[in-house]
Amino acid sequence: MKISRKVSEGILGEGAFDVLAKAKMLEASGVKVIHLEIGEPDFDTPEHIRKAACDAIMRGETHYTPSAGIQPLREAIAEYVGEYYGVKVDWSKQVAVGTGAKQTIFAALCSIVEEGDEVICPDPGYPPYADGVRFSGGRPVFVRLRPEDEFRMTPEAVNEAVTSRTRAVIINSPHNPCGSMLTREQVRGICEVAQDHDLWIISDEIYRGIQFDDFEHVSPMEFAPERVILIDGFSKRYAMTGWRLGYSVAPAEITKNIIKVLNVTTSCPVAFTQWAAITALRGPQDFVKWVAKRFKERRDIALAELDKSEVLRYVKPTGAFYVFVDVSPALRKLGLDSKGFMEWFMEKRNVAVLHGSSMGPSGEGWIRISFGNSDENVREGCRRLVEEVDRVVKS
Ligand SMILES: Cc1ncc(COP(=O)(O)O)c(C=O)c1O
Repeated sequence: MKISRKVSEGILGEGAFDVLAKAKMLEASGVKVIHLEIGEPDFDTPEHIRKAACDAIMRGETHYTPSAGIQPLREAIAEYVGEYYGVKVDWSKQVAVGTGAKQTIFAALCSIVEEGDEVICPDPGYPPYADGVRFSGGRPVFVRLRPEDEFRMTPEAVNEAVTSRTRAVIINSPHNPCGSMLTREQVRGICEVAQDHDLWIISDEIYRGIQFDDFEHVSPMEFAPERVILIDGFSKRYAMTGWRLGYSVAPAEITKNIIKVLNVTTSCPVAFTQWAAITALRGPQDFVKWVAKRFKERRDIALAELDKSEVLRYVKPTGAFYVFVDVSPALRKLGLDSKGFMEWFMEKRNVAVLHGSSMGPSGEGWIRISFGNSDENVREGCRRLVEEVDRVVKS
């Protein structure tokens, strides 16, 4: 009997979850592992948001909701996005709430991509972009983010990647896994390319707000809102990864399609998490500032350790909570690829990191370190990495 190659070959999945499973297996054998692989804040969701969810459960908000989400949440999102970006958002036509930003990315790609279409994706980049494109029958066209450009997607590189089949370009600033952020000129330039070739811009802004050193966050919403599919959510800014709630804000015709995909896949997002999300958006925002401050401290802890290495190379992250580290000298010495290195390092020093190859072809030779762990664990994990890599390379 046949199975779908579209899934077995087309969908690669998110490597971080595989590494987590591997680390958990090691832990089951009694070993204590330092987790620097998974992309989630280790902080608890703020109490006022948790309380709102409990209240909603007790009120009986435990039923199906409309597929696009409950009206008060869609209104709150429209207001929040409208105010932040200085645009007018019609909650009933432009906002769709999904089970995590990940689902809205998938729904957005299914909504615009047809057989043979091309979508420009950052490489390295968040794996569900390319998977969603392939699943929709399209072809991801990778634009290599180079350390020389501080891992930023340049308008020139996007322009070069455009063909007559290109439907959309995906941007992600602050960026997973590199922690880079696009400059105003780059965002403007990418919008111009999109305008010249009539492309959609999928702008994944899930890490907005987690940015350091006064680096300004710039969105294509500022230059070309009519062609932007904005992806955002609650996971990172409000430490709500397990609540599975994200949203898209897009032109009406796209949103109609997105809602159809949400309808057939999950019917609707969880009812009581939606009520809690209203509290997240309308309540005090000091937690978001605190999260950004704590991640900056963690970044500085990680970089202080990495700087002790005579071998490791990285580009200083300005946002998100990752640093992408070049381990290629150690790979050459060990005769391993980045996945082999991830396994070797986990076994040898009990630290879980994410192999760069899981984030796209250009990620080979690199690893991603997440700051989603305590200061002590981030410091100790990086210390072990430096110790091991320097020893291997110098031996
Ligand atoms: C760039 C990027 N976009 C989207 C998501 C998905 O977030 P959510 O938990 O809302 O599905 C992630 C999660 O790691 C991410 O790194």
